[in-house]
Amino acid sequence: MRTQVVIVGAGPSGLLLGQLLSRQGIDNVILERKSADYVLSRIRAGVLEQGTVDLLHEAGVGARLAEEGLPHDGFSLAFEGRLQRVDLKGLTSKQVTVYGQTEVTQDLMEARQAAGTTTFYEAENVQLHDFDGASPRLSFTFEGKRREIACDFIAGCDGFHGICRASVPSGAIETFERVYPFGWLGLLVDQPPAAHELVYASSPFGFALCSMRSQTRSRYYVQVPLDEKVEAWSDARFFDELRRRVPEEVAAAVIPGPSLEKSIAPLRSFVAEPLRFGRLFLVGDAGHIVPPTGAKGLNLAASDVRYLFEALREHYAERSDAGLDAYSARAVARVWKAVRFSWSMTNLLHLFPEASPFDQRIRRAEFDYLAQSQAALTSVAENYVGLPY
Ligand code: FAD
Ligand code: PHB
Repeated sequence: MRTQVVIVGAGPSGLLLGQLLSRQGIDNVILERKSADYVLSRIRAGVLEQGTVDLLHEAGVGARLAEEGLPHDGFSLAFEGRLQRVDLKGLTSKQVTVYGQTEVTQDLMEARQAAGTTTFYEAENVQLHDFDGASPRLSFTFEGKRREIACDFIAGCDGFHGICRASVPSGAIETFERVYPFGWLGLLVDQPPAAHELVYASSPFGFALCSMRSQTRSRYYVQVPLDEKVEAWSDARFFDELRRRVPEEVAAAVIPGPSLEKSIAPLRSFVAEPLRFGRLFLVGDAGHIVPPTGAKGLNLAASDVRYLFEALREHYAERSDAGLDAYSARAVARVWKAVRFSWSMTNLLHLFPEASPFDQRIRRAEFDYLAQSQAALTSVAENYVGLPY
């Protein structure tokens, strides 16, 4: 079997890249370890930058997003019970759109299926070969049989725990990492959200986030220790803890209900450099991770896809490799700015087990500064809506 681009991973980055390539007439095959249903069952991101929305429209999968996505003009930060709105629209003239990653993934899967493009779900033991030369290949097991596929390029869209980054010789890659000493326990519930906009709250009991998926479905998070077990959290315990951490007026508006999903995600900052090794390109979480506090992970995956898609289009349509040669540097430059923003939001809003009274005063001063300075709020707002490509 032969194709132009093999994409490893059918998460949002792999599916979006595949969709853009297919519309450009560039042949591609996706190898995904899990089943489509499993991929759709993972509840993750909820906030899309305008640039991500634009790219989804360009990929021809924007119809349901335009209809069901919720445009948000701002969000709130809460610190020790005080609320500070960040007026995204007023400060940057831009908005964000609340539309779940699951919905993005589903729209992309449907478009791929309608186009009849090949995806191997439940492809086991994917292995990469010869990507440092002119003729890369991959081997994998599908329905019990070992198969092989030759290609021009490999897009590693297989997330943080994938095989693509792990296949790069250790001397050829440098990694930068910070692991935070806590995670987020998330809960999805079919009840109207506690507030019209997102509320990111810092409290003496830890961080909490009130988010949503629609006017009738809410997504809430509370910071928990890394060793916490999800079984230890009944729905009632979760809602009690959430209410304790958000300002009173928000707590009063939280409507509990039976959880549709409950899971714990660890928080991590991670960047691999470079993002290209011969004919292998790392895209999205395969190359970098940010803590979810800045709502940047999925949006960074989309900006990587944009750069790589443009580069591959140039390669095939214009016989120019300038974009491929520039991919890693362009992507990494945007990634680090989002890593910095996500790290600073995480530091501002979370309770660190080792924090001293000095650290706590610094955090309070930072919040006070935000509340008094249009310049400081504008900086938060322009990062949140997404820096330019
Ligand atoms: P993934 O979604 O991880 O997809 C990788 C795919 O590759 C998976 O389907 C996996 O099964 C497959 N795979 C892995 N290994 C192999 C293999 N060996 N062979 C074949 N296939 C393989 N981001 C935002 O922008 N905004 C938010 O509001 C936000 N909130 C978040 C909240 C939480 C709780 C979490 C956990 C994340 C959040 N993120 C957010 C981050 C966002 O979800 C990720 O950045 C995004 O999923 C990255 O997409 P991806 O396609 O690169 O990787
Ligand atoms: C979510 O709705 O899942 C969500 C929203 C904003 C974030 C992180 C997660 O920063």
